[in-house]
Amino acid sequence: MTRLVTNPRHGALRNLLTIADLGPDVAAGIDEVMNLTDSFVEVSERTIPKVPALRGRTVVSLFFEDSTRTRLSFETAAKRLSADTMNFSVATSSVKKGESLRDTIETIEAMGVDAIVVRHSSAGVPLQIARWAQSAVINAGDGWHEHPTQALLDCYTIRQRFGDLAGRRIAIVGDIRHSRVARSDVAAFTALGAEVTLVAPPTLLPPSLEGWPVKVSHDLDEMLPELDVCYLLRMQRERMTEALIPSLREYVTRFGLDAARADRLPDDALVMHPGPMNRGVEITAEVADRPNTVIIDQVRNGVAVRMAVLFLLLGSGTGWGGEVEG
Ligand code: NCD
Repeated sequence: MTRLVTNPRHGALRNLLTIADLGPDVAAGIDEVMNLTDSFVEVSERTIPKVPALRGRTVVSLFFEDSTRTRLSFETAAKRLSADTMNFSVATSSVKKGESLRDTIETIEAMGVDAIVVRHSSAGVPLQIARWAQSAVINAGDGWHEHPTQALLDCYTIRQRFGDLAGRRIAIVGDIRHSRVARSDVAAFTALGAEVTLVAPPTLLPPSLEGWPVKVSHDLDEMLPELDVCYLLRMQRERMTEALIPSLREYVTRFGLDAARADRLPDDALVMHPGPMNRGVEITAEVADRPNTVIIDQVRNGVAVRMAVLFLLLGSGTGWGGEVEG
């Protein structure tokens, strides 16, 4: 039986805007979230998957951009911790009447919220909100910048299969240039000792890779037999202002993970994707449904990881109310 020990660093995490916010020792910060996530995975498997840890706390979701998984997952996580949730839908709010971001935040905070989960198409908006707000702010994706909870759930999913990430060879494949997931994943995976290679045509890489602790390849085929994880990204066409690839067909021919390519991966290698995936583009339908493709595990783990993050930010420090005496 598990018994969760109250986290001694509790309360140290004020906001989660980037992976670097997890502390000066990022690996230790990630480990802390991972250990707490183990307990919340156990809660999620109970008949009644709910603990009173955040009773009386309110979490508001402020999504200025579309989302399925991230939004539902934060909401489920908050509810499983017994927090109240508020959903702010930009399309039906006074933002449409021209209300500023600052006024919107002030209005929301006046209602008494404890955490704001924000997604925005511009990098830096969560940081700006954190400067104004009293509440804890969690970045659920800002422009091309970061998406820290996605990286945490990715680390958790890899750890679940392999034990740890140290020395693991991970390729992140595809539209890295526009991907906040790639930026957070690189920071998290390398902090845990993985070797990351970015695999993409030159036009889909960031304009500068200075300071990125990664290797680069333009050839997925040569990488495949060496990989522990093949992490695919969506072509983010909504963020492309110019034609960065000659044609989607050419991209698929060189970088799409089809059966022949997947067969060249080592037997236990994982295929991952943050979703939403475009079957037939970065991954074929058949590969998407293989046993080593862990996309659904990523989604499942996302709830427990976000419970851990919400608890670290908002928990009272007296335990999470779900301990099992052992
Ligand atoms: C990603 C996002 O929105 O950053 N999705 C997600 O949160 N799971 C990736 C994407 O949109 O391609």
